[in-house]
Amino acid sequence: MAANDYRAYLRNHIDMEEAPARAPHTGSTHRALIFGTLAVMGLLQVASSVAILLHLTGYLREVDLASAQQSPNEEMHSETLIADPIKSFKEKKERCRQKKDTRMPSAHLPIKTPTNFSTKDRNDLTMILWEDFHGSNLKKMKYREGRILVDEPGYYYVYAKTCFRYAEVHDRDKEDVSNLQLFQYIFHEKHTQSVIKPVVLTKSGGTLQWNIANYNMYCVEQGRGVQLTKADGVFVNVSNAWLLDPAAEGTYFGTFKISD
Ligand SMILES: *[C@@H]1O[C@H](CO)[C@@H](O)[C@H](O)[C@H]1NC(C)=O
Ligand SMILES: *[C@@H]1O[C@H](CO)[C@@H](O)[C@H](O)[C@H]1NC(C)=O
Repeated sequence: MAANDYRAYLRNHIDMEEAPARAPHTGSTHRALIFGTLAVMGLLQVASSVAILLHLTGYLREVDLASAQQSPNEEMHSETLIADPIKSFKEKKERCRQKKDTRMPSAHLPIKTPTNFSTKDRNDLTMILWEDFHGSNLKKMKYREGRILVDEPGYYYVYAKTCFRYAEVHDRDKEDVSNLQLFQYIFHEKHTQSVIKPVVLTKSGGTLQWNIANYNMYCVEQGRGVQLTKADGVFVNVSNAWLLDPAAEGTYFGTFKISD
């Protein structure tokens, strides 16, 4: 009995001693399983995180919308082209017309000829009359009695050039040109004023002595930006208008809109 017990004890003892040796084997398979599961879970986690990130940034929806819209759109486009070419032609024409309307207002007018200015009132200011060619040089602007009139309010650049010239041979009665005041003024008539009093926008010119040479010429050119409202007028007055050069490239007046 005691011997059997001892043998049993020994067996148990050996079993117990062997057990730690066997245990790592079964433990490693378990661990591999756990690691594998964790790895799969980790991958799933990463994949779902990426999906959520893409969704939040809107990338996925954009891709969805793009792929959903692309083909029906193309179909619709080709449909309208085939179904109604006249309509699309009209639309194109309409678009061209609207584009034309967006052009900025402008005016460029040469001096009206023949000029007929008196030699008497030398230093008095005289308003220059301009050739409007029945409005062909006016875009969204009007001309009346020396004035360019504003139709569309906005910020305009206004400019004028006047050339004065004197040739002795052309004048039978020799004029006194020993002391000439050649000045040019651009005026602005504000429509909103109850009593229309013109305001000087710019002035330029010089004092010249033309009794030395046979032929003399002097040009004044100036311009500036100014805010103009509807029905406002701009005009040019000069001294010694009788000396004005009647050439279109020598004496002209114009304006164009720059912005609102
Ligand atoms: C020129 O003006 C004067 C008045 O300043 C006038 O008597 C004359 O008829 C005008 N001539 C022409 C051709 O317009
Ligand atoms: C501009 O000239 C005209 C004459 O042509 C004159 O009646 C008018 O008073 C002048 N305007 C100014 C502001 O000098």
